[in-house]
Amino acid sequence: MSDGPLIVLVGPMGSGKSTVGALLAERLGVPYRDTDADIVAAEGREISDIFLDEGEEHFRALERAAVAAAVAGHAGVLALGGGAVLDDGTRALLAGRPVAYLSMDVEEAVRRVGLGAARPLLAVNPRRQWRELMDARRHLYTEVARVVVATDDRTPDEVAQAILDALELKDV
Ligand code: S3P
Repeated sequence: MSDGPLIVLVGPMGSGKSTVGALLAERLGVPYRDTDADIVAAEGREISDIFLDEGEEHFRALERAAVAAAVAGHAGVLALGGGAVLDDGTRALLAGRPVAYLSMDVEEAVRRVGLGAARPLLAVNPRRQWRELMDARRHLYTEVARVVVATDDRTPDEVAQAILDALELKDV
């Protein structure tokens, strides 16, 4: 269990996983990886196109494989797509790992993700859809998390520091 990512970030869309993940990687002097980006690179198209062309189920299968590969093969900071925790196998893979859940409230989510969402799951009514997603997922984020860090009213630097503190990691 000592191999694998130094930090895994989970949380809903817009919680800042990519921004904070890149900051953390820089501060720790390790590479950053993002399973959404891995999928886009491997498939050669955007996630919204994968959803449109082949549906969510197909995307989730690609995501499951991308997460398994990254958890096994990446020793830096890893950010997972917001829905990755829906998968039982993924949650089992994360057990015992240094997982940080970036939480935020709905108003902050709508401010950050906005209405022009390139995110297929929030395209119609972001506030309501975000609430529904969180009702279905909050307990899953909490289940896999070693630490929970609230991001509301915090800058990415402050969130990164809070994660380092909570996981008892020191930067370089
Ligand atoms: C999703 C979150 C997105 C992306 C896809 C589905 C979700 O990732 O994987 O649009 O189900 O919450 P981010 O959380 O990185 O935006």
